[in-house]
Amino acid sequence: MIFDTHAHYDDEAFDADRATLLASMQENGIGCIVNACAAIDGLEKTIALMEKYPFMYGAVGVHPDDADQITPEVLEKIRQLSRNEKAVAIGEIGLDYYWHKEKEEHRIQQDMFRAQLDIAREEKLPFMVHSREAAEDTLNIVREYVKGGMFGGIIHCFSYGREIAREYLNMGLYLGIGGVVTFKNARKLKEVVEYAPLSQLVLETDCPYLAPEPYRGKRNSSLNLPYVAQAVAEIKGVTPEEVIAVTEENAKKLLFCR
Ligand code: NI
Repeated sequence: MIFDTHAHYDDEAFDADRATLLASMQENGIGCIVNACAAIDGLEKTIALMEKYPFMYGAVGVHPDDADQITPEVLEKIRQLSRNEKAVAIGEIGLDYYWHKEKEEHRIQQDMFRAQLDIAREEKLPFMVHSREAAEDTLNIVREYVKGGMFGGIIHCFSYGREIAREYLNMGLYLGIGGVVTFKNARKLKEVVEYAPLSQLVLETDCPYLAPEPYRGKRNSSLNLPYVAQAVAEIKGVTPEEVIAVTEENAKKLLFCR
C-alpha cells in the first residue's frame, strides 16, 4: 500500500472534512501516513492525530520558518514527544533562505536545525529535512551530522539537482518525491528521479500543498499519490505497483527502525 511520508493533516485546510477524508484512506490504498509538524502548535495536533488514527504516525519538530520562536522549552517538548511510540522522525527541520534572507535569520535557523538534529541522534530517530535555496549550508550540516552517526533521514520535497542528490544518496539518505514530479516544467526533479535508485526514494504529498497534475493548484491529499507513483514509474520504466511497493518498503525500513 502507499506510504505517505510527509503530510500536514493538522492544517486548517482540512478543518471542514478531516474526519471523512481520513476515514477514506485505507479503502483507497493508503497504508500509512506520517503527519509532519511545521508550526509549534502543530506538535500537539500531530500527537492527537496519531493517537486517533491507527495508520497515522508523526514527525515532531519545528520548521525553519518558526526557528526564531523555538525556546529551550520547545526543544524539551520535542524531545518528550519524540518518545511517543508513534513518533517516527524529527521533522520537518532545516533551512529556508527563500522566505528568509537576513544573515541573522540564517544563523538562528542553523542553530535550531542543529539542536533538533541533536535530538534525532540522542533519541535514535531519523530526521526529515526541509531545504529551500539553502543547498550548501544544508548539505554541510547534514554531512557533519551523518559523519558523527545518525539514524537515517529523508530530504523532503527534494528541489535541487543531480549533483546535490548524489551527495545525499551517498550518505544513504532518502529523497522525498511528491506532486512536483508530475509538473511539466519539473525537468530538474525528473532528472533526479531518473538518476536516484528506487531503493532510496519515498513518496510524499506535503498536503495540503503541491497537488500533482491534473489537480495542480488545488488542495492536495494522500489520495492523489497514485499520480505521483505513475510519474515516477514512467521515468524509471517500471510499473506503478512496483514504485508503490518499493517506496513503502523503504519508508518502513527507515521510519519503523526504533
Ligand atoms: Ni511539509
